[in-house]
Amino acid sequence: MSTTSDVAEPASKVDLDQGEGGGEVPSFDITLKVRRYDPEFSEEARWDEWTITMFGTDRVLDAMHKVKWEIDGSLTFRRSCAHGICGSDAMRINGRNRLACKTLLKDLDTSKPITVEPIKGLPIEKDLIVDMEPFFQSYREIMPFLINSSPAPTAERLQSAEERQRFDDTTKCILCAACTSSCPVFWTDGQYFGPAAIVNAHRFIFDSRDDAGDLRLEVLNDKEGVWRCRTTFNCTDACPRGIEVTKAIAEVKQAILTRAM
Ligand code: SF4
Ligand code: FES
Repeated sequence: MSTTSDVAEPASKVDLDQGEGGGEVPSFDITLKVRRYDPEFSEEARWDEWTITMFGTDRVLDAMHKVKWEIDGSLTFRRSCAHGICGSDAMRINGRNRLACKTLLKDLDTSKPITVEPIKGLPIEKDLIVDMEPFFQSYREIMPFLINSSPAPTAERLQSAEERQRFDDTTKCILCAACTSSCPVFWTDGQYFGPAAIVNAHRFIFDSRDDAGDLRLEVLNDKEGVWRCRTTFNCTDACPRGIEVTKAIAEVKQAILTRAM
């Protein structure tokens, strides 16, 4: 995962005036309003805004790059893949958690400033960079790896299509933290495991090849575990991978009660 000093030119700097077939890509002005914080200079956060010309194919990440590379190199944020895979650029855009690289400017109301803030509930280090350690601590606690004590087979550990389907949805997680940092319980209680850890526990609890489902259910049957969930569906709304996060949490709760995996 990298910050923003070592990557190729943003899409907005490439000549997009002529699309394939000669069609013109529309350009328009946007005002990008970013919440800034730099403890080396001030303990107070502030808002900075820039009006910039962008294209119809640009995303919020391209606008952030344009500011960073052409106007203010001190603007600090994480991103790596720029294509919705690495999960490093979750931000609060117009008050909602999204990936900057998957949010097209044309889909936002460009007649008003587009606001960008760090995700909530995690300590801010600088501008949009938060300390992800509490998030990954919970992730590690649910043991996000296959545990099977039987002798390793010479070929694959087989499972049926139905068995694989049981946890298919939760394999899609990219650990962006958009769900966990949209959860009001997590905002008020940084101890709560949070939706992402439960999603990743679900991925192994319901895997027929795994032996440690009971162990993970015990971990999550904690006062800071699944029972803190208030079913607000913020997590499901926030997930850029379309994972049914609240449903996965409900299935883990049910498994704790019935021990039926
Ligand atoms: S469940 Fe969705 S929102 Fe949560 S960390 Fe995984 S990909 Fe991100
Ligand atoms: S930069 Fe990798 S998901 Fe957006």
